[in-house]
Amino acid sequence: MQIPMELRAALNASLEGIPRGPLTERAERISSLYRNGTGSSVAIRDSTDALAYALTRSPATYGAVHNVLTRLRERSPSFSPQTALDLGSGTGAASWAITEAFPHIASITQADRNQPLLSLSRTLAQRASSAALRNAAQINTDLNRDLPDKPADLVVLSYVLAELPPDQAQSLFVAAWGLCTGALVLVEPGTPAGFGQILSARFILGGGGAHILAPCAHQRACPILAPDWCHFAQRIERSRDHRILKSADLPYEDEKFSYLIFVREPHFTPATESRILARPQKARTSITLKLCHPDSTANLVTIFRRDKPSYIRAKKMEWGDEI
Ligand SMILES: C[S@@+](CC[C@H](N)C(=O)[O-])C[C@H]1O[C@@H](n2cnc3c(N)ncnc32)[C@H](O)[C@@H]1O
Repeated sequence: MQIPMELRAALNASLEGIPRGPLTERAERISSLYRNGTGSSVAIRDSTDALAYALTRSPATYGAVHNVLTRLRERSPSFSPQTALDLGSGTGAASWAITEAFPHIASITQADRNQPLLSLSRTLAQRASSAALRNAAQINTDLNRDLPDKPADLVVLSYVLAELPPDQAQSLFVAAWGLCTGALVLVEPGTPAGFGQILSARFILGGGGAHILAPCAHQRACPILAPDWCHFAQRIERSRDHRILKSADLPYEDEKFSYLIFVREPHFTPATESRILARPQKARTSITLKLCHPDSTANLVTIFRRDKPSYIRAKKMEWGDEI
């Protein structure tokens, strides 16, 4: 997948006249800080840092959120949000994914405590064809102290919980659920720590009666036990500048993410299919799928070529699909 053409054009316009050398140094610094668990308030200090972040990280976070919103639409085709809250919005990657998935969205509110990221988000959005994105309301706030007061049909927390200590992460996802009238989408890095955040939300919000729409095929205890973790992947094309800034050779990257979608009652129908939890393993005469089932079990299932209808179906399936 590629980021939207308008977003690419907006990033290119922001790059005009900016020397790539210092930007690459910023990108390396930010990436090493994020790897060590340092949050955006230290990593992103000014507009150059924000641009380096937008070029190197936001295509991947856009791709992950886009993937998750596609799952939301598959599981709840009639869900058509009018209002959205992008909490910890950064440069607005999730907001762009929201307008792609739900082009009829009427209003978006972005909340973040990092002004350079908010400002770049505003600049990039001016190139969007979506009026909701161009006119997105912005709130500069620390979400652990002060939340937006208006609820929204769709609330997204994308790659935010990872930056917070457990008690603050918990109060934020609880508050985000309180602000949501339709669906709450959580997306975190596809690492054991990222999955830990997702499991914690699953336990607390699910335990409190929030309906889990995806990826889980059931509402019971998660069968994926450490050292294993539930995660998915989205392949995203790299732009030339992205390759330069990341000193990368490959023309794409695979973003690994964990996620959870909670919905209010009217948007919920129980899952009847199993979900594929890893890249299908294709051999000469068989395909092996790692599946999570509606009865709350998970296992490996091998489908042989001699079972023609199932084999043909399995061959078309990808990591993250329902089968
Ligand atoms: C890794 S970035 C992710 C940005 C964006 N959601 C994305 O997916 O690309 C994390 C964002 O969360 C914001 N953030 C973290 N803790 C916050 C808090 N307590 N209040 C407001 N924003 C916060 C940071 O400023 C940063 O913009």
